[in-house]
Amino acid sequence: MIAENLAYALVQVLHNLGAALVLGAALAALWPGHLGDTRGLARLQTGAWALQALTGAGLGAVSFYFYGRFPEITVLARIALGMEIAAAFFGVGLGVFYLRTFATWAEAGRRRAWRIQAALAAIALTAAAFLRWFS
Ligand code: HEM
Repeated sequence: MIAENLAYALVQVLHNLGAALVLGAALAALWPGHLGDTRGLARLQTGAWALQALTGAGLGAVSFYFYGRFPEITVLARIALGMEIAAAFFGVGLGVFYLRTFATWAEAGRRRAWRIQAALAAIALTAAAFLRWFS
């Protein structure tokens, strides 16, 4: 029991810190004033999105390791999990695209991209609450 809870807690620590980074990076980029060179923040955020996918799968893996199967979850929890996965997928995709084509973006476009990133992070965090309580 202790080993199981410890495994969950340690993976969840990384998952929670990743969630904070994903939203924090977008808010830092959008902080009032000139947007500037936000490639560092974009790298950080793209890494954090990937960390979310990895640690999210890690939470499932811990369940599987200790019970030999994935937990039964309600339809609403499945929808919420799907939204978390979709947010991570589009977050990484937009981040990679942004970094690869950074030089071609006008300031308005960059701002729009960061707003989308902030919205994706907010959607994932909202879905996480439903996943937790409707599992
Ligand atoms: C592939 C993507 C993801 C997967 C597979 C995934 C999976 C999971 C799982 C299995 C849980 C545990 C739910 C429970 O305790 O019953 C969880 C919780 C959580 N997830 Fe994710 N997640 C993903 C992406 C994200 C993203 C992108 C964010 C935020 C930016 C996020 C934020 C959270 C938070 C904050 C919790 C804790 C909820 C709570 O206990 O109150 N997740 N996630």
